[in-house]
Amino acid sequence: MEKLVINGGNPLFGNVNINGAKNAAVAILPAAILASKGVCTIENVPNIEDINCLEIILEYLGCKVESSCNSIKIDSTNIVTTNATIPEVRNMRASYYLLGSLLSRFKKARVELPGGCPIGDRPIDQHIKGFEALGATVTIEHGAVNLVAEKLVGTTIYFDVVSVGATINIMLAAVLAEGTTVLENAAKEPHVVDVANFLNTMGANVKGAGTDVIKITGVDELSGCNYSVIPDQIEAGTFMIATAACGGDVTLNNVIPKHLESISAKLLEMGVEVVEDEDKVIVRSGNNLKGVNIKTLPYPGFPTDVQQPMSTLLTMAQGRSIVNESIYESRFKHIDELKKMGANVKIEGRIAIIDGVKNLSGANVKATDLRAGAALVIAGLSAQGKTEVEGIEHIDRGYLYIEEKFKALGADIRRVNI
Ligand code: EPU
Repeated sequence: MEKLVINGGNPLFGNVNINGAKNAAVAILPAAILASKGVCTIENVPNIEDINCLEIILEYLGCKVESSCNSIKIDSTNIVTTNATIPEVRNMRASYYLLGSLLSRFKKARVELPGGCPIGDRPIDQHIKGFEALGATVTIEHGAVNLVAEKLVGTTIYFDVVSVGATINIMLAAVLAEGTTVLENAAKEPHVVDVANFLNTMGANVKGAGTDVIKITGVDELSGCNYSVIPDQIEAGTFMIATAACGGDVTLNNVIPKHLESISAKLLEMGVEVVEDEDKVIVRSGNNLKGVNIKTLPYPGFPTDVQQPMSTLLTMAQGRSIVNESIYESRFKHIDELKKMGANVKIEGRIAIIDGVKNLSGANVKATDLRAGAALVIAGLSAQGKTEVEGIEHIDRGYLYIEEKFKALGADIRRVNI
């Protein structure tokens, strides 16, 4: 077991390179199962724990997987099983994308129910509704989802909620189906578009990704291809907010500024300077930031994955801020930890009422989920005195070398064994 030890108060200066997007990569790797010939070479893959888990799962299914630095080669030609029932499947959320991919190519799949961060109820009813609409029979037994279909036939599916996972999963299931599938009320997140682009590079016919109607015309087969994952919107947001919280001047390289607009807009409203360039964003921050109100929404709204880092920043902003978490019912678990550091926050259901304090003060805190971990690191970096963050295995699921990157920007942070 490890923890992060942070001596807070240093401003951040310099450059940081943002990794490939976790939530795109964790869908693109399972999508590589769809290639019945050729090899998928996927670049700009973050070497995080969730990716390591997926590599183990793909090898278990019979894929040949070779990884070096940020590049992964996957040969799915000789898959030997459609039963994904090893512990790694339960350890992560995105293992549910194995359902769409295996069903699509083999017309059957058995995948253990996914895990992921404990941030509220996370049903998969919209995934199941989509698989059934395409012609699959779905049963859940002994903690695993079983899918079987004689054939998959395109149809129109209206999602009752905007779901990233269901949109991607049904895209995966529909790319080899007979005829055309139309997804209505689809998610528009950048990673949905990235997965659609990957599928099209493999030979699929997916149109409209990035809007709320996606049309997928089935093709006979898909092949390996070369592809590079988009930059991580959430990692970028985390570093932007950390710079705002600590003060300083940081250039984030390898970003798509358009994907960061909802975050940049809120930081500007608070009094942070944000300058966008082609593939970089410069963030400059001093003192006296103003509180703002936030409501998390599907893209292009403010991302729920950035809410926890952002609410940490707001605990140090002047005046009252209201944060409305509209996507998940319990994504405020970091707040109790922030209170140990002197934050003044009241939670009422999905609303956090934050009255800014001048400074947080270092304390021993524990991360309960991935973005809570990032939020506590930001709190520690900006607080006065020493903070120890435990539960950093959650952080490692989604951030690569988080302490190295902050150290390179001037932070006093190190990883130690407990
Ligand atoms: N929902 C349903 N039924 C479903 C699916 C979703 O009611 O069948 C609800 C959820 O309960 C939630 C909302 O719809 O209230 C949105 O859920 P969504 O399906 O979009 O979330 P997800 O696919 O499970 C992905 C990311 C999350 C991110 C959300 C929202 C991955 C692996 N995970 O989850 O990322 O918060 O989209 O953008 O892509 C993270 O990276 O920290 C993280 C949790």
